[in-house]
Amino acid sequence: MQYDVILPAAGSGKRMGAGKNKLFLQLKEKTILIHTLQVFEEDSWCRGIYLAVKDTEREVIEALLQTHGITKVKAMPTGGDERQHSVQSCMKEIGQGEIVLVHDAARPFITQSIIHELAEAALEKGAAVAGVRAKDTMKRVEAGVIQETVDRSTLWMIQTPQAFRFDWLKEAEDAAERDDFLGTDESMLVERQGQSVHIVESSYENVKITTKEDLVFGEAILNQRIGG
Ligand code: CTP
Ligand code: MG
Repeated sequence: MQYDVILPAAGSGKRMGAGKNKLFLQLKEKTILIHTLQVFEEDSWCRGIYLAVKDTEREVIEALLQTHGITKVKAMPTGGDERQHSVQSCMKEIGQGEIVLVHDAARPFITQSIIHELAEAALEKGAAVAGVRAKDTMKRVEAGVIQETVDRSTLWMIQTPQAFRFDWLKEAEDAAERDDFLGTDESMLVERQGQSVHIVESSYENVKITTKEDLVFGEAILNQRIGG
């Protein structure tokens, strides 16, 4: 089967505090952005990559794509102030399709097997997102005081990729835009349409590189992969 993938890459990386978009930081010999792009470049199911970028970073990214032989990028629309708007600008570029995946460019350790499980689940069921089970004891806290201990067996930490039938995501985005609704991920937009979103159990390695500690973790993952 085939899918298109949207990679929002137009953030600022404020929490990383590197003074630039964190996607340009190196992990081993390559930037985070290239690590992520290569996973999809090498996946035969991936038909096209749609990359949301900042206008000021467009040239640097074009040069990186050239250097690393990334050929599947079909469009690089300008991202928005919010991640949701960056994803939306890519949806407009795709125009129409069957299965679309949304994946944070800041998650370079995603594997082809999880991607394929998600694409197949979206084809069969309409919507599926990657997630891992919560590991710690979870409590709901208000004003510094525990209100309750939440049953951990029902709690999942949600990642990307998030995979959808194209029309489901398009309709959910249009509705969110109409209602001025801003979600923290695409799943939330589809959930509020009353659709069931399924979980594909992913890996704890599929971290979003967000703060400095994540770079250490990222280097460790790469070292382990090279070693193994
Ligand atoms: N992103 C985007 N457009 C935005 C904001 C974020 O395309 N307006 C992208 C980021 O580049 C990243 C992904 O969405 O690949 C996930 O966002 P996040 O991890 O929050 O990255 P940043 O927004 O760059 O980081 P921060 O929130 O710390 O500023
Ligand atoms: Mg952000």
